[in-house]
Amino acid sequence: MLAKTPPMGWNSWNTFTKDINEQLIFETADKMVSEGLRDAGYEYLVIDDCWSERQRDENGQLVADHIKFPHGMKYVADYVHSKGLKFGMYSCCGLMTCAGYPASFGHEFDDANYFASVGIDLLKYDNCYHPSSESKLSYARMALALRQTGRDIIFSLCNWGNAEVWKWARSVGGHMYRSTGDIMDNFESIKKLSNSQKENLGYSAPGCFNDIDMLVAGMSGTGNISTFDPVAMTNGAEYKGCTDGEYRYHFAMWCMFSSPLMIGCDVRNMSPATKALLLNKELIAINQDEDARPPIFIADNHGLHDNTICVKFLADGTYAVGMFNVYDRKVTAILPYYEMGLDPLCGYALEYTDVFTGENLGVRRDYGMFEVEPHDCRVFRARLVKVK
Ligand code: GLA
Repeated sequence: MLAKTPPMGWNSWNTFTKDINEQLIFETADKMVSEGLRDAGYEYLVIDDCWSERQRDENGQLVADHIKFPHGMKYVADYVHSKGLKFGMYSCCGLMTCAGYPASFGHEFDDANYFASVGIDLLKYDNCYHPSSESKLSYARMALALRQTGRDIIFSLCNWGNAEVWKWARSVGGHMYRSTGDIMDNFESIKKLSNSQKENLGYSAPGCFNDIDMLVAGMSGTGNISTFDPVAMTNGAEYKGCTDGEYRYHFAMWCMFSSPLMIGCDVRNMSPATKALLLNKELIAINQDEDARPPIFIADNHGLHDNTICVKFLADGTYAVGMFNVYDRKVTAILPYYEMGLDPLCGYALEYTDVFTGENLGVRRDYGMFEVEPHDCRVFRARLVKVK
């Protein structure tokens, strides 16, 4: 089975948008290895939009931009593979890609064969300039084309949650599906995207995962996404990046939700905090848990209604507990055990280990109560223990 657990990797879009080239990709591949990202599970290196020439060649074939990728894409794929990584590319089900490059509508089989000849292991398939209202069939068409190549290719649908994609992405051969609009490097965007998918996570499971978009952790306001998108520039939001706490909130939420983890920052220049976060083994284990169960969301949150408190049942019998604070002030977050089905009189309680510090915080009876800094989170690995 492909995508047994949420795919992990790096994608060029958030930081670099159109400013991509062979050297950047080679350096990124090198760093994914030397910084330990590959060995932590980030295996896909994905080149997003803007990799091709503006026109197909005389045979109707996609061609690599000869300045950005002078040796063609197979050369790039071979290099990425030589580093023990997998390689991903991008196209779109419409007439043009979102940035205005040739896309695959009416060319699905030719393009799938081209991508397979390059040696890709993942195709991100976008939704711009789409001539028909039948999103599902457009994606099914490319899935059929990819499958006939005989190559194992993760099919990454990117229709931004249109037409309730969570209900049919699996049926049309998808391995992950974008359920939201584009992420921006600010806390508002992180909250908006993650809140929007709480009700849909039951559809996300091994083989096909709900993708709440690529990570902005570590970008710190330096990426191109803020300036590239004309809507983003005019809608009044600020794109100055996030605090370390906000990035913790973001990454930990994506882990609790079993979303694919596609790094969007420049991995050649990661701060110690970014590295520690992206390489946090416990959080990655929560994301990659083989059962991929959606969390229980705890409704009774003692007046802090905008906060997210959730519990994810893990395959080894333990539980991941996440407490996410959207407020501008420090709060005391509470997980009342009856809200997760644990009767206070049953004689069992939870014992907590903090996934950020590794500290064992002992057994808490009746409820788990922890302080959470503003715009930050606490995440624990908890186990059920007998208390009498
Ligand atoms: C859309 C997608 C983004 C990115 C761009 C490329 O906006 O949602 O993730 O791929 O297109 O143009």
